[in-house]
Amino acid sequence: MSEVLDIEALTVTYGRGPVVRALWLRLARGDVLGLVGESGCGKTTLGWSILGLLPSGARMDGTIRFEGADLRSLDGRDRRRLLGDRLAMIPQGGSGALDPLYRIGDQIVETILAHRHVSRSEARAMALRQLRAVGIPDPEARLASYPHELSGGMRQRVSIATALVLNPSLLIADEPTSALDVTIQAQVLALFRDLIHEHAGAAIVISHDLGVVAQLCNRVAVMYAGQIVEEAPVDQLFAEPRHPYTRSLLAAHPALGRRGDRLATIPGTVPDPASPPAGCLFRPRCPVAMAACCREPPWVEQPGGGVRCVRHAAG
Ligand SMILES: Nc1ncnc2c1ncn2[C@@H]1O[C@H](COP(=O)(O)OP(=O)(O)OP(=O)(O)O)[C@@H](O)[C@H]1O
Ligand code: SF4
Ligand SMILES: [Mg+2]
Repeated sequence: MSEVLDIEALTVTYGRGPVVRALWLRLARGDVLGLVGESGCGKTTLGWSILGLLPSGARMDGTIRFEGADLRSLDGRDRRRLLGDRLAMIPQGGSGALDPLYRIGDQIVETILAHRHVSRSEARAMALRQLRAVGIPDPEARLASYPHELSGGMRQRVSIATALVLNPSLLIADEPTSALDVTIQAQVLALFRDLIHEHAGAAIVISHDLGVVAQLCNRVAVMYAGQIVEEAPVDQLFAEPRHPYTRSLLAAHPALGRRGDRLATIPGTVPDPASPPAGCLFRPRCPVAMAACCREPPWVEQPGGGVRCVRHAAG
């Protein structure tokens, strides 16, 4: 079975209207999906939904299947067995996964021991290998450090090492390279590629850095106000963006693929989840809106993806 993730009609609300809206998404083994869109579009919320770790008070509807199993029907024990092992996340902000009260080494070693039948010394060797792989200098000494004793970039690397150490089949990386310098970024991108190719995993990479997306991903989904408005193979999306929102985002980037290329800011703001516009959610900001856009635009299938815009609907 090659399907890793299958999301159907996922809707998430924090009480003021949905921030993820009837979202459908599929990932097969080997897929590395870049998830892009302005701040507040719901990217992180989508990630936490997949892990089943939304804050209390959030309401979630729809289906999420991971390797064929309905994630929402798992009990606490089965979910804990999955998290950190076959399903892992590198949280936004780098250090979010690290407990400030425990030494770095203990955190990684305990993660390994919770999921693998190995001895403590084998687990320690695995932790060291992984810290070395993400470019942590003097990893032996770092095992004894507490998170606050490390720089932000170093904590981000530890967080990456922890997520990768058990070769997850699905990795969700939320702005994974934002605190890293260019050399370490290249090293970490190479690690992700290895994970995906050698271990037949899949990944969702949330990033504002289009260079990272161009280098790492084979597909891209563009999110706007809780919906995927365009999905396409990476080369095609950059060469020939179809949705007016994607075009606006990419307009300021003539030399895509350069590291550090950030998403453009475009005029106007993302709609308030509590009072979205009628019809197409992008309509108030869309340079090519027309009367028909007052109705909800259809999802129009395209080779390798699709686009949510009336201008691409047949007829
Ligand atoms: N715990 C929460 N309680 C209430 N609202 C929330 C909570 N977390 C996020 N939101 C709201 O949900 C929406 C989506 O937020 P989310 O963090 O998923 O966006 P994002 O695309 O990850 O943004 P960014 O690029 O800034 O990380 C926003 O309107 C945000 O204000
Ligand atoms: S449906 Fe209309 S408003 Fe929405 S993106 Fe397409 S053209 Fe613009
Ligand atoms: Mg986010």
